[in-house]
Formats: sequence, C-alpha cells, structure tokens
Amino acid sequence: MRPASKSNKESDIVNTLQCKVNEILGAEISGIDLTQPVNDATRDELNALFAQHAVLVFRDQPLTPPQFMRGAEIFGRLMEQQIKKFVLPDYPLVGSNSTKDLPRKNGKLQVRGENYHTDHSNDLAPPKATSLMAVQIPSDGGDTQFVDVRRAYDDLSETQKTALQHLRSRHVHESSRSPRSFAKLSPTDMAKIPHTEQPLVIKHPVSGRPALYLNTGRMEGIEGMDADAGFALIDELYRHATQPQYEYRHQWRVGDMVIWDNRSVMHQANADYDPEEYRYLYRVMLQGDKLEPFV
Ligand code: SIN
Repeated sequence: MRPASKSNKESDIVNTLQCKVNEILGAEISGIDLTQPVNDATRDELNALFAQHAVLVFRDQPLTPPQFMRGAEIFGRLMEQQIKKFVLPDYPLVGSNSTKDLPRKNGKLQVRGENYHTDHSNDLAPPKATSLMAVQIPSDGGDTQFVDVRRAYDDLSETQKTALQHLRSRHVHESSRSPRSFAKLSPTDMAKIPHTEQPLVIKHPVSGRPALYLNTGRMEGIEGMDADAGFALIDELYRHATQPQYEYRHQWRVGDMVIWDNRSVMHQANADYDPEEYRYLYRVMLQGDKLEPFV
C-alpha cells in the first residue's frame, strides 16, 4: 500500500484535546500524542490555549530531540540557542539544561535560571516561548516555578499603572546588580550578545493583555531615573510580581514537556535537590517579535 502523504496523514489525525486549568496559572493538556503531527484545527486550539493560559503542561511525552522540536513548533518557529556551549551536537536548535552546567559554589549546587526571569530579554526580539522536556529528574526537588506577570500588572493601582506607562529599561547580558549567576561565555559568544531597551509594561501580541516585563539579572536600571531609584523600582515590582498568589509550581516527571510564554510569565529554577542526583532536560526557544509597550 502506498504510504499516505504528509498532508493526508496530518489531516487524518484526530486529537481529542482535554484541558485541565490550574488553580492559579497554566493548564495541563491531555488527549494528544506529540510524536504525531497535528492538524490545523488542533494547532489553532493549542495556540489559543497557550495565549490564554501561558503555561501548558503535556505529561507522558518522552520525546526524542527531533520529536521535541516538532512538538514545540506547533507554537512557532524555533530560535537559535544564544549560549552555544549547551547545544546538542546533532541538533543545534536544541539546548540542554543539567546539574553539571555551573560549577559548585562553596560545595553548593548552582543551577541556571535561579531567580525569576524572562528569557533573553536583552534580545531585540526575545523568544516568545521556551519549552523544556524532562529526560532525567531528581527524586525530590528541582521544580520550576512560574508567576503570572499579567495578573501582577492588573493588581497594581491606577496611579502605579500610569507611572509605569512610558518607562523603559536597558537589558544587558548581566546586570551590574544581578542576583543570579550566569554561565561564563566565550569571547566569541560574548561579542554576539545584544543589549536592548525594553518597555516596563508590554502588550501581548495575541491577547492584547498588559504584563510587567522584568528580569533582575539583566535590567540595568530604568531610563531617565537615577540608578538607585531605578533599581529600587525594579526591586519593588519584582517583589510584587513574585508573590505566591501569582505562582504555579511545576513538579517534574520524566517525559513532561512544558512550554511557557515569556511575555506573560516569569520562571525560575531551583537548586534545592541532592547534587549527587542528576537533572537533565532538553530546552528550545521560539522566536518572538519586538516587544510593544502597553500604552
Ligand atoms: C530556565 O530558566 O530556563 C531553566 C528552568 C529550570 O531548569 O527549571
């Protein structure tokens, strides 16, 4: 029998998506096998759910790197990894995140992505989304936390919202007041790292919702404000946005694929697990557009 063409095969696949919405943020999607292509209706439905819930969790999807790439591509175009030292040799668009990425500090485990942040905010067009797929997970700890920076913005007073409206911040590779450790880069990688001004409040390109845009590891103060006042404002907004009422905490299982919207949430990793255990995830990013201010 002649094999079905790709487009026939895709249109034949019927997914019965189910969406379980989390109490605070994000949703768990079932009724889909990410090793298989999706048809247009399923793709549209998933993208609508993504714009609404900002963090989507797919359980029991132990994907190979090419399958993971195709699964993430349901939501957009894969983006080059900025930090080349963590890319998979055979799949340069796929990075990895592991226990061994950073050296221990005074014997203590350090992991990439500690402290809430949004990815590569120093890019002119930062990644719209990032996705991780869990290959190996410690028996306890190593969760990823997410906070909803849309709701954090909504909860500000009208006076605060007006005060933030036209403010911008310079985002660099590593802020002079960064609270977190960054991987050391080669001079070649470092020379390619962009620096960019970003609005403090952005408008989501699909939903139109406003959100705080914060990254304490990369923000170098606020334009037009004296350095201490600028950093104090960033610190105040960061403390507001990272309160537990905005948080979803993901406890990983091997085979979980999680994708999040960098324009709607901040995320952070936890170095709270036994350093003798190994945590290893694949990681991809999807290309975003230049960020628009919410005015
Ligand atoms: C990241 O910041 O992308 C890493 C998150 C994690 O490892 O939990």
